[in-house]
Amino acid sequence: MSAAAGRRLLLVGATGLVGRHVLAQALADPRVAAVTAPVRRDLPAHPKLRAPRVDFERLPDDAALWRADAVVCTLGTTIRAAGSQAEFRRVDHDLPLAVARLAHAHGARAFALNSAMGANAASRIFYNRVKGELERDLAAIGFDSLTFVRPGLIGGARDEFRLGERVAGVVLGALGPLLPRRWRINPAPRIAAALLDAAIGAPPGVHVVGSERLA
Ligand SMILES: NC(=O)c1ccc[n+]([C@@H]2O[C@H](COP(=O)([O-])OP(=O)(O)OC[C@H]3O[C@@H](n4cnc5c(N)ncnc54)[C@H](OP(=O)(O)O)[C@@H]3O)[C@@H](O)[C@H]2O)c1
Repeated sequence: MSAAAGRRLLLVGATGLVGRHVLAQALADPRVAAVTAPVRRDLPAHPKLRAPRVDFERLPDDAALWRADAVVCTLGTTIRAAGSQAEFRRVDHDLPLAVARLAHAHGARAFALNSAMGANAASRIFYNRVKGELERDLAAIGFDSLTFVRPGLIGGARDEFRLGERVAGVVLGALGPLLPRRWRINPAPRIAAALLDAAIGAPPGVHVVGSERLA
């Protein structure tokens, strides 16, 4: 497919660990004609990229911002960074859902979510429940193609220090191939590639990409 006929991609979370890889891969991908990435901090300029600063507390209803063929969402925080469960839920559930509704209303037909291993709306674990509720609520929107990419521990260089993840990374990294595939570290570029392929390929229906396919 030529760049002229390529997809218009909307990416939220472009400044994060996985999002940075989605962005770099999308900008280098001839299947993608243009990327819109609403952000809170500036990204380096690129001829295929439009990255306006947006107030995520009050998402603008601006057609030019949300019009896209496909969406990749890697937006999220941690309960520690959010400061409370309620605030975590607002960022990890309410914001992606609001973006999805806006993009769908403006014509997006495919959505790929960076979810998490264990996502389950009926889980007793708060984090897994929020991720599962997001998946459930996204499924109700009506995208032609919806993919949940569910990594375990994400591998990659992170600006922020997260002790638990650092320790888990050392342990899982040392055990490496001894572990069943689903428990191995999932490198951020592999997660990004799965998200981008799902968004661009837009397979009809609802799909789950498990951690064993991201190791
Ligand atoms: N850490 C893991 O091992 C792990 C495992 C499984 C699943 N996950 C999930 O995978 C997803 C991506 O993870 P990641 O490690 O790539 O995340 P990350 O590096 O923390 O990046 C998060 C992205 O979300 C944006 N964001 C956070 N809070 C926001 C807010 N209030 N308003 C607007 N944007 C906001 C950040 O923007 P700024 O740059 O402006 O802050 C950044 O672009 C998350 O949903 C996470 O829960 C993580």
